[in-house]
Amino acid sequence: MIYLDNAATSFPKPPAVMQAMANFLEHAGGNPGRSGHRLSVEAGRIVYDAREAIADLFHAPDPLRIIFTLNATHALNIVLRGLLHPGDRVVTTSMEHNAVMRPLRALERTGVQVVVVPCASDGALNLEAMQTALRTHTRLVVTTHASNVTGTMMPAAEISEIAHRAGALFLLDTAQTAGVVPIDMQTLGVDLLAFTGHKGLQGPPGTGGLILNDPVDAVIIEPLMRGGTGSASEFEEQPEFLPDKFESGTPNGVGIAGLGAGVRCVLEVGVAAIRAHENELTRTLIDGLLAIPGITLHGLRGTCQRVSTISFTVANKRVSEIGMRLDEEFGVLCRVGLHCAPAAHRTMGTFPEGTIRFAPGMWTTLNEIREVIRAVEQVVAK
Ligand code: ALA
Repeated sequence: MIYLDNAATSFPKPPAVMQAMANFLEHAGGNPGRSGHRLSVEAGRIVYDAREAIADLFHAPDPLRIIFTLNATHALNIVLRGLLHPGDRVVTTSMEHNAVMRPLRALERTGVQVVVVPCASDGALNLEAMQTALRTHTRLVVTTHASNVTGTMMPAAEISEIAHRAGALFLLDTAQTAGVVPIDMQTLGVDLLAFTGHKGLQGPPGTGGLILNDPVDAVIIEPLMRGGTGSASEFEEQPEFLPDKFESGTPNGVGIAGLGAGVRCVLEVGVAAIRAHENELTRTLIDGLLAIPGITLHGLRGTCQRVSTISFTVANKRVSEIGMRLDEEFGVLCRVGLHCAPAAHRTMGTFPEGTIRFAPGMWTTLNEIREVIRAVEQVVAK
């Protein structure tokens, strides 16, 4: 089996992740931050260690400004639905995943003005178009860091600068870049960073988070949920302090234990080394695919402004047929179709059929990529 679906979720997970999760259940199964006994204290320590590792990875201002969520979608929803009110204006791009588009379209019906800046068919953002969109007062700019369909990266630092000049906050969706591209939220000027735990961070599903950078006052964001936090229990009102304001209910301790181990593994290998390895795989994969007659690559050909996620189509063949044959005849696992990103596919001109998406990860080898190219050659030939 060759796993090329790391944009959907990474596989396999590092053994340390499984061990940390088993250890949590076996030796630290208390409820973090609730009780004073040893199992609760140990669970709290594990959760805090994960916060510290994540703060280290993204250069977060304070581990306590990291809010654990179920996934990136949950983190994005906290900001979009908690910050935007009728009459507010929000600017985004035409390459966004439905994790951004669906909450925005729902908010639009309540009177929020949604402006979508069109991107080129390879996913590249025209910064001048973004600048023009930001001539009008705007509350928030939200963009993906890299498309989950083409892998094309957005120029986050430049967007942040334009957004701030316009008086807007900048929310970055790092679902496809966390753990595979070095991210310093201070250098990039990211106000709000949404991440998922189960892709490049090597953690289990059901983990993710939102980071509030220093200038962002939590008071401007209403929580999606209110409830017990293990703190300020004398009050029936939700606390305003972080992370408790947004972390009601028993957290996913076992998942967070796994996420912490995943992030420590990424830090140990080094994001720069992971990026270099994935760039080499990407280069080989793109060159190999482009040499096959009938293949159209949708996205950038260079590796500087992209991650390893690659989309392509084959002349006169259905993407579903290619995906099925790659799995059944060659053991190559990928994702075909619209990838929960219809806006991106409309931008690329591949709606409604979609594309075949290959997403190598940190554990993919160059030999596997060579085998994949041979498999595609054979599938395309007959
Ligand atoms: N958002 C994930 C993907 O692109 C699930 O496949």
